[in-house]
Amino acid sequence: MKQMEEKILREGQVLPGDILKVGSFLNQSIDTEFLGCMAKEFARLYADAGVNKVLTIEASGIAIAAAVGMELGVPVLFAKKHRTSNVDGSTYSAKVHSFTHNEDYNVVVSRDYLLPTDCVLLVDDFLANGQALNGLMSLCEQAGATVAGAAIAIEKCFTGAGDALRASGVRVESLAYIESMTDDGVVFRP
Ligand code: G4P
Repeated sequence: MKQMEEKILREGQVLPGDILKVGSFLNQSIDTEFLGCMAKEFARLYADAGVNKVLTIEASGIAIAAAVGMELGVPVLFAKKHRTSNVDGSTYSAKVHSFTHNEDYNVVVSRDYLLPTDCVLLVDDFLANGQALNGLMSLCEQAGATVAGAAIAIEKCFTGAGDALRASGVRVESLAYIESMTDDGVVFRP
């Protein structure tokens, strides 16, 4: 999506450790008009995929997921992050390791909200190492739900995680594909 690349070039800031700061429009302050454009593009991409639920992880995924859910006309579910694995039988839970933050956490959803009849679109702001997506896919598998695919705002292609997921048969659509990031700027996949 050309607008996402332009937005990153205009407002993104490359930080040490291959971190792209996009707090001005996505992670902290949210450009609502742009959010609407993102949601429309995801809804266009997944229009014929039979999606009946959107699933994301708190916190930064929620705004994007809500916009996509509204565009598709389906409910939105967000997995909560728990530090401990101390969860009861009323939930599905999966352990996630964040390489960016170097910590483990559990993603948890209530069994009441994720159903075997669901065809789920996974939404997140970044696809870095794919751990969050793997966690969400595990929740869907535990529930017996179908995964239609993933809708990602910004994919860091240089980790290889997105392509590995695609090679394993998961549909992954991103609005910007970052090949490399340096102090000199961001390079997108052609
Ligand atoms: P992975 O899920 O793809 O494996 O990614 P990883 O664990 O490495 O990243 C986890 C967190 O770091 C996520 O947020 C993700 O959005 C964020 N992140 C990864 N790369 C970048 C980046 O280049 N820039 C920014 N701004 N964030 C990045 P989180 O910890 O779940 O935080 P939040 O959703 O509560 O904000």
